[in-house]
Order: sequence, then structure tokens, then C-alpha cells
Amino acid sequence: MRFEGLSKRFGEQPVLRDISLDIEPGEIFVLMGPSGSGKSVLLKHVVGLEAPSAGRVLVAGRDAADPATRRAVHMALVFQAGALFNSLSVYDNLALYLREHRLGTEAQIREKVMRALQILSLESAARKSPAELSGGMRKRVAIARALVMEPQLLLYDEPTSELDPVMSATISEIIATLKTHYRVTSVVVSHDRDLALGIADRVGILMGGELITTTTPAELRRSTDPRITDFLNPRIDLSAPRFKKLEPNQPS
Ligand SMILES: Nc1ncnc2c1ncn2[C@@H]1O[C@H](COP(=O)(O)OP(=O)(O)OP(=O)(O)O)[C@@H](O)[C@H]1O
Ligand SMILES: [Mg+2]
Repeated sequence: MRFEGLSKRFGEQPVLRDISLDIEPGEIFVLMGPSGSGKSVLLKHVVGLEAPSAGRVLVAGRDAADPATRRAVHMALVFQAGALFNSLSVYDNLALYLREHRLGTEAQIREKVMRALQILSLESAARKSPAELSGGMRKRVAIARALVMEPQLLLYDEPTSELDPVMSATISEIIATLKTHYRVTSVVVSHDRDLALGIADRVGILMGGELITTTTPAELRRSTDPRITDFLNPRIDLSAPRFKKLEPNQPS
């Protein structure tokens, strides 16, 4: 996957600025950065949900903005908020893509769906609607749905944000396993330092729409760039000016 001078603006607001980057097949690339820095917008360009203002994104050598690319390259995006159908059961959410694309008999589909549900400890939720699940369970359903699609390219938008530490570690393991067993290329947007430093081949840091660094986890740990160290190791400072104005217990 290749980003060639990708820039994106919404009206007057520049959101991505001249991003150039190569992600190798089978690589796990973790993208970190403050809220609002453009991470989700960047992912959307890869799957063709946003079109560049300048530059381009190539997926397997094809322009990501071309609808034919999505048909030719097997890819899945695990959305930040899940994007599941509440009118369908969890089981049917997972089976939907396979049925629509006639990827197997009902028995084969059942086997794939049940395996994905088992990997993510969701068997007991199979008959429920996503609306009846906790946030973390919905997140896991979204990941399971991506897994049954058996993509070459998996994009995750904050896959561990609502998960407990054990489930977060499981997700990290799944991403790493997909790389070793199936050579899946993964781009993972995450605020989870353990995930980033634990499984990434490389980490990119996006700030204000600019990719300020692309480096290995080991290099990142050694970084002395204050923008990076402050981002990775924020200090809690209750005497900071932003708290001074707060007057407790004032009737309004
Ligand atoms: N469709 C859109 N139209 C206009 N502005 C948008 C649109 N999508 C995103 N933006 C703006 O682009 C900027 C980057 O948004 P983005 O969702 O990529 O942030 P993010 O890095 O994913 O943040 P977070 O960590 O909070 O998810 C924000 O200022 C956002 O308001
Ligand atoms: Mg986002």
C-alpha cells in the first residue's frame, strides 16, 4: 500500500498534509496520534470512502479511489463505532457478506462464522442483536465480521478502545497471528501503547494531519522528540492553568 503526497481538506480545513508512506505486504503498521489528527480520515482513503484533495493512495498497485479496487482487493475496515446492523443477529451480521458473495454453502458459512465467534469469545451472543450487547462486545463482533471475510488487507480503527486489558491482549494476538499465518497486511489506528509497541513492525505518528515520524517500536521508545515523548507519556497536572478557573460547588 502506498500513499503518494496524500492531502485532504474539508472545505477550508486541511486534515491530511502531504502524506507519503509505503506499507509492505504482511506488515503491521500502527498509526497513533491525538484525537482529531486525521487518523480515521486516512483509513477511509484506503477503502475509498474518502477521495484525496491531492495525491493518491495505491492498494496493491491500484488507485484506492477507483471503485474497481474494492472489488479486486479483499479488504475490510473495522470501524471505530462498529457499524453493525441492529436488525440482524450477531450471527447474521457475520454471515451477511459471505452469503451476499456466495462464499460457500450455508454449512461452510456456519463453520467460518462459528470459528470467528469462538476466537472472540462471542458464542453466547450469536443469536442476540448488536443493540443488546456491551460496547466491548460490539467491538469484538465488528472484528469477527472482518475476520470471516478473510481479507488480504485489514484496517482497524481503534480495535481495543472499549475492551478490558485481557481482551485487548487477545485482539493484539489475533492481529499478530493473521500476519504470521495468513500474511495479512494490517493498518491499526490505536491509542493503545501496549498494542503499538507490542505488535507493530512500524509505528507512524500523525499530528495535525502530518506524519511526523515513521519508525520501529524500539526506536520510538528511545525517541527524545518532545512531541513524541509528551504524547506517549502524558503527565497528569492538576495545577495546570486549565483547571484554575473551575470553582467547585458553585450554584449556577
Ligand atoms: N466528513 C467530514 N467532513 C468534515 N470534516 C471532517 C469529516 N471527517 C472528519 N473531519 C474532520 O477531520 C479531522 C480529523 O478527523 P478524524 O476522524 O480523522 O480524527 P481522528 O484522528 O480519527 O480522531 P479520534 O482519535 O478522535 O478518532 C477532524 O477535525 C474532523 O472534524
Ligand atoms: Mg478516529
